[in-house]
Amino acid sequence: MDVFTAMKERRSCRSFLPEPVDEDMIEKILKAAAWAPSPLNMQPWEFIVITNSEVRTKIFAESVRCKEWALEKSGWKWLGGYKIDFVKSAPVIIAVIGDSKKSGVDMFMEEGSTGYQHACAAAIQNMLLAAHALGLGALWFTFFDKNPMREILDIDEKKTPVALICLGTPDGKPTAMPRKDVKEKTSYMR
Ligand SMILES: Cc1cc2nc3c(=O)[nH]c(=O)nc-3n(C[C@H](O)[C@H](O)[C@H](O)COP(=O)(O)O)c2cc1C
Repeated sequence: MDVFTAMKERRSCRSFLPEPVDEDMIEKILKAAAWAPSPLNMQPWEFIVITNSEVRTKIFAESVRCKEWALEKSGWKWLGGYKIDFVKSAPVIIAVIGDSKKSGVDMFMEEGSTGYQHACAAAIQNMLLAAHALGLGALWFTFFDKNPMREILDIDEKKTPVALICLGTPDGKPTAMPRKDVKEKTSYMR
């Protein structure tokens, strides 16, 4: 698949069939992640491929807790109708873990380490595009708090669970979210 087609046609998938994902496909997706750019090529990411149902249940419980908390805190009514059952039904979840010690020169700058998160985001986008090109559905998921997720995934406190990628065979075709015309978002300094 042409990269422009993949970028345009990829959609967030929130409904998965229960069938398992081929290990070769998971490997291809992880290799795509590894080709992402990173500050000083430090590759500040680690991946945990989760298929264990007990761990997935714990992740789901944390997501529900986080959603209820967010609903109360924000008062956003749409959150009440936002169903996160896909966290339970996705056959694979890939946790993307970032290492702030591998952030490049920004470690010494005013705002501190952010480059490692940007690099993880680049890796995640590669994964989403690779999944789409392989005919799989994927979702960039962040409804969780860092400490409970560290505990569930047994991650060192110095590392950051950046996102969970829910992955599987899509159940139906996700609806396309509209985009603003990029002209509204662009200015030129000629
Ligand atoms: C940093 C980031 C965090 C996101 N977190 C969530 C999430 O927790 N739950 C969710 O359903 N979608 C999440 N998304 C997906 C967005 O909702 C989605 O990309 C956006 O609505 C556009 O839809 P599309 O991906 O189908 O084009 C996240 C996306 C990004 C980039």
